[in-house]
Amino acid sequence: MGGFEGGMLDAASDFVLGLPKCELHVHLEGTLEAEMARSMVARHGNDPASVGLGERPAAFAGLSDFLARYYAAMQGLQDEDDFYELTTAYLETARRQGVVYAEMFFDPQAHTSRGVPFGTVVSGIHRAQQDALARGGPDSALVMCLLRDESLDSAHATLAESLPYRDRGWILGIGLDSDERGNPPSKFAGVFERARGAGFRVTMHCDPRQETSVAHLWECLDVIGVERIDHGIECLSDDRLTGEIARRRLGLTACPLSNLRLYGTLMADAVTELMARDVLVTLNSDDPAYFGGYIADNFAAVADEAHLTRAELAVLAKNAFLASWLAPARRDGYLRAVDDYVSAAAPSHSAPTR
Ligand code: HPA
Ligand code: ZN
Repeated sequence: MGGFEGGMLDAASDFVLGLPKCELHVHLEGTLEAEMARSMVARHGNDPASVGLGERPAAFAGLSDFLARYYAAMQGLQDEDDFYELTTAYLETARRQGVVYAEMFFDPQAHTSRGVPFGTVVSGIHRAQQDALARGGPDSALVMCLLRDESLDSAHATLAESLPYRDRGWILGIGLDSDERGNPPSKFAGVFERARGAGFRVTMHCDPRQETSVAHLWECLDVIGVERIDHGIECLSDDRLTGEIARRRLGLTACPLSNLRLYGTLMADAVTELMARDVLVTLNSDDPAYFGGYIADNFAAVADEAHLTRAELAVLAKNAFLASWLAPARRDGYLRAVDDYVSAAAPSHSAPTR
């Protein structure tokens, strides 16, 4: 692991680390570090070597290559304590990286398809969320992602299983992830309509560099009526689409280190372009155990490449709170905390990072 967890620090990154941050795009299963995956597999009596858990390449051959490794590593996650340990470790790292609030994804079908009950997954995660909060944070909420390369029947069945936990307030939103090829948002229009009716907030992945990125983004707006878009950066190839995303104030959850490891570029220019176009773009970590860094590392990487000022970094941090699904009073409290942090950091931190 590199970046802040590896101990790299200078004055500019010190500012990034202390900036109160909101994480909107992190997959809990993508926080499963190789060492934890291996020890869980061994604990359940299997041989870690036989499932290739050590392989976390510096560059992936695109989304499908990453996803194959991501699903393979999950087989160690079997009982409630495993999900508790995974979530506790992520929240502890997030706290160290300056996260005060996180809306975290999980992929229930990746577990129920292996025979792990839905309730086991959410109970372990929920207990870890409660315990982290009792220890002083970060606060967090859960967003259930449906796997777009699974069937519509499986999506409906998973939604049905989630409803009791939606009613208890354990799951806040619903998303869509996994392999986008041949799996457009419209395939799931009926499920998402049901989910919205049940009170779920709605987001969807539109990954970078997909042949159908622009068409899928339009479907997110026109067919699904999403409240946020995960990645979504390819909207920049369609001016009208970018304008509509800005007009609707839809958050776009960019993931720079994910872009770097999957596509060879941070896409930092796209982030500054989206800011200039008044889009509510945010910086996030996606699958940090695979992509070499957590949220502060993503902020630092973009700050470095795009020569962001501290004021611009504060805008990015505030965008995430604005795009979050926090109640207005709590959201506004966090926005004030960012302003207070920036003012308290002056004058020594008033200079640009460049
Ligand atoms: N895109 C699609 N599926 C995923 C991702 C992602 O960024 N991360 C985990 N599953
Ligand atoms: Zn993602």
